[in-house]
Amino acid sequence: MINHATKKQELMDAFNFRHATKTFDPAKKISEEDFHIILEAGRLSPSSIGYEPWKFLVVQNREIREKLREVSSGAQGQFPTASHFVIILARKNATPESDYGQHILKNVKKVPDDKMEQMVKAYQHFQGVNLNLYESERALFDWASKQTYIALGNMLTAAALIGIDSCPIEGFHMEKVNEVLENEGLLDRENFSVSVMAAFGYRAEEPHREKSRQSQDEVVQWVD
Ligand SMILES: Cc1cc2nc3c(=O)[nH]c(=O)nc-3n(C[C@H](O)[C@H](O)[C@H](O)COP(=O)(O)O)c2cc1C
Repeated sequence: MINHATKKQELMDAFNFRHATKTFDPAKKISEEDFHIILEAGRLSPSSIGYEPWKFLVVQNREIREKLREVSSGAQGQFPTASHFVIILARKNATPESDYGQHILKNVKKVPDDKMEQMVKAYQHFQGVNLNLYESERALFDWASKQTYIALGNMLTAAALIGIDSCPIEGFHMEKVNEVLENEGLLDRENFSVSVMAAFGYRAEEPHREKSRQSQDEVVQWVD
């Protein structure tokens, strides 16, 4: 039997190391190799029916960061100091009959032509009947947005495992962020909207408070 003790300890250490970093050391840059691994953690993340309804905008441009900071109250310290700043976009209208849905089925999942119709129907049933996502554009967008949070979580954990700090960010004005991105030519609003953000870098100082979490007993219920 393989002994996973070291890996288990590394994993627990990473979860305890990670905290929502407010200010990064602006002088410390993440290496290209390390940041590539963080992006891979996002790209390789699972998504419902394998739709990958995301796009990762890595915003390094200082002026654009400043414009985004003005509409992101929760990222005041992170925008100017993060080594790398990622805006995760989620897809709108990611239905199986859309151009994007067809691209995923044909070119990514390699569904054979004679199976396409059957797959489209199955996915329409799943999205429309099981999850009621065709109720509103917002419901369909929020479903895509949920998938982006899986990528987000994996990116944060991957970063922590290689000693990189991070902060997930939801403290922004959605409409205003979309406007900034659109004005900069970075957002196709027909097909995307901002979902969530993540800042990466190296902490400027140790966290001010200890990690606070409820106990397992409070959040886990076993059903035997
Ligand atoms: C989806 C999400 C959005 C968050 N948005 C912000 C934010 O805008 N600004 C911020 O400083 N922290 C943000 N946080 C960090 C949380 O406040 C933090 O994770 C929580 O208080 C627990 O602290 P810890 O991560 O340091 O253990 C966010 C966390 C998550 C998961």
